[in-house]
Amino acid sequence: MEPELPRKRIAVLASGRGSNFQAVIDAIAAGDIPAICVRLVTDNPGAYAIERAESAGIPVTTVDFAKFPSKTAYEEALLAAMQDCRADLFVLAGYMRILGPEIVHEFSGRMINIHPALLPAFAGLHAQWQALEYGVKVAGCTVHIVDEGVDTGPIVIQRCVPVLPDDDEAMLADRILAEEHKALPLAVKLFCEDRLEVTDRRVRIR
Ligand code: GRF
Repeated sequence: MEPELPRKRIAVLASGRGSNFQAVIDAIAAGDIPAICVRLVTDNPGAYAIERAESAGIPVTTVDFAKFPSKTAYEEALLAAMQDCRADLFVLAGYMRILGPEIVHEFSGRMINIHPALLPAFAGLHAQWQALEYGVKVAGCTVHIVDEGVDTGPIVIQRCVPVLPDDDEAMLADRILAEEHKALPLAVKLFCEDRLEVTDRRVRIR
């Protein structure tokens, strides 16, 4: 029998529905990822991700953006909440805010994000709509390491889907989401197995 890998501590940041978070929870429960999810951190007290965390017995910290007088004050509280997780890896799974430079610096190389486009095309919000408007024939998702830019960090995994002639934004988003649910757990697994080697922009999978 293979010796078991030591389990990494991961924490997830999510702002909404949390289906990518659920995909990671399920992959851990299935024994596919040598990790324990120690916390969900959310900026949104109404996020459905909170219910998913509760069902899985994962503690939740809510840093409610609306309750802070400024973005700086919010980021200070978020940084403290993240430090408190003592996580090896932070997974941004539909976290809908841009992280400030202090947080990015503090957890440099230890944060990954899922984006619903084939980066570097269509960074930022409404990526699926941007792809449709542009008229691309292939779309998809990207898991990347977080750096100080918006969706600019080194790419870990990409998966693609066709764009069909009658697609609307929701149809394309659903098709991409199914691939996100494969890409994100795989990227988390590779990180937790120490299989990612990052040199400048390039990520080699060992
Ligand atoms: C996903 O499409 C993700 O790529 C984007 O926001 C969406 C979040 O979906 N950043 P969910 O909350 O994981 O269901």
